[in-house]
Amino acid sequence: MKKIPYGKHWIDEEDINAVIKVLRGDWITQGPAIDKFENAIANYVGIRYAVAFNSGTAALHGAMFAAGLSKHDALITSPISFVATSNSLIYLGGKPIFVDIDIDTYCIDLGVIESAITEETKTIVPVDYAGYPVDLKQLREIADDNNLIIIEDAAHAIGAKRYGKMVGLEADMTMFSFHPVKHITTGEGGIIVTNNLDYYEKLKIFRSHGITKDPKRLTIENEGSWYYEMQYLGYNYRITDIQSALGLSQLKKLDTFITRRGEIAKKYDQAFRDIPNLKIPPHPPYPNSLHAYHIYPLLIYKHDRKMVFNKLKQEGIICQVHYIPIHLHPFYKNKFGLKQGDFPFAEDFYNHEITIPLYPLMTDDEIELVIEKIFAVLK
Ligand SMILES: Cc1ncc(COP(=O)(O)O)c(C=O)c1O
Repeated sequence: MKKIPYGKHWIDEEDINAVIKVLRGDWITQGPAIDKFENAIANYVGIRYAVAFNSGTAALHGAMFAAGLSKHDALITSPISFVATSNSLIYLGGKPIFVDIDIDTYCIDLGVIESAITEETKTIVPVDYAGYPVDLKQLREIADDNNLIIIEDAAHAIGAKRYGKMVGLEADMTMFSFHPVKHITTGEGGIIVTNNLDYYEKLKIFRSHGITKDPKRLTIENEGSWYYEMQYLGYNYRITDIQSALGLSQLKKLDTFITRRGEIAKKYDQAFRDIPNLKIPPHPPYPNSLHAYHIYPLLIYKHDRKMVFNKLKQEGIICQVHYIPIHLHPFYKNKFGLKQGDFPFAEDFYNHEITIPLYPLMTDDEIELVIEKIFAVLK
């Protein structure tokens, strides 16, 4: 039976050749492809700096470090995200404060954030769930009024726009992920983009053990050209030239991928929009916006979600659920005293959500098949 997964990378001969070229060259890691990839992403977004990591998770961890956060600090984020969003500060000893989602956006409820801010809160981490760009204008006002840094988790939203501005331009730091189900891939990988030179320098140091060779940062002069210093506790979070070559090649196709994702979402919208007990994902209401459709979350009411999920699976339509609310994971319950009932909108969303297949390689026939099977299962 033909299987249609919920997401899939698109690697072509050009990508393969780009990787082979690096494998035949002098550098397979820490060579020129990394800078090229970082510059290309910065240019795409229209921002000054980009620092690539070996995962989006590592990139978020780096952003928390660069922002100077530690065990005394807290971040505010949405429970409807992947655990990496909030784990990124827990790695540094800090703690997460969750704010429920807005059922009109599936993202953090901007109207509730201020009441959740405490003395410890240093950053807000909006998650552009599914590729829906969170309203950063409103969020910026809240952040500025409360002296908070915005670290945007745009793992789902490279190429998305609001008010005609590319996601990545408005937060203090923004993370994009290059995991294979994302818009473009480097196998594993992620990146932080920022306009802030201090963040940029700290991100670079953090991804390589906390080590620097930069003469203006060294505490000792003229020790020798081999000399470097470890100044912070960093990690080996380096991306390779092999991965960066793949990313560079993929980036050339990003706009085509996003366009195709939009076309598929439109077909689903048309099919499901007027069907009772189904809810299609929200469209950003602000002018000149673009939803990046990393995934297509369909909400299903009056039917047992598990039954629908399993029957579709039997028919070869392999869906997913995004996400188990973070506060319901045992680690979070035990460590932070969180519990069922804490965030009712997120929990209700989770109970009804299924992520149906959406990836640029999907053919029109496959889209039709998914729609047909969903209708058949719901009958
Ligand atoms: C919202 C969100 N944040 C963070 C991450 C972590 O990214 P990565 O898988 O590249 O480490 C992901 C990846 O699934 C994600 O979806």
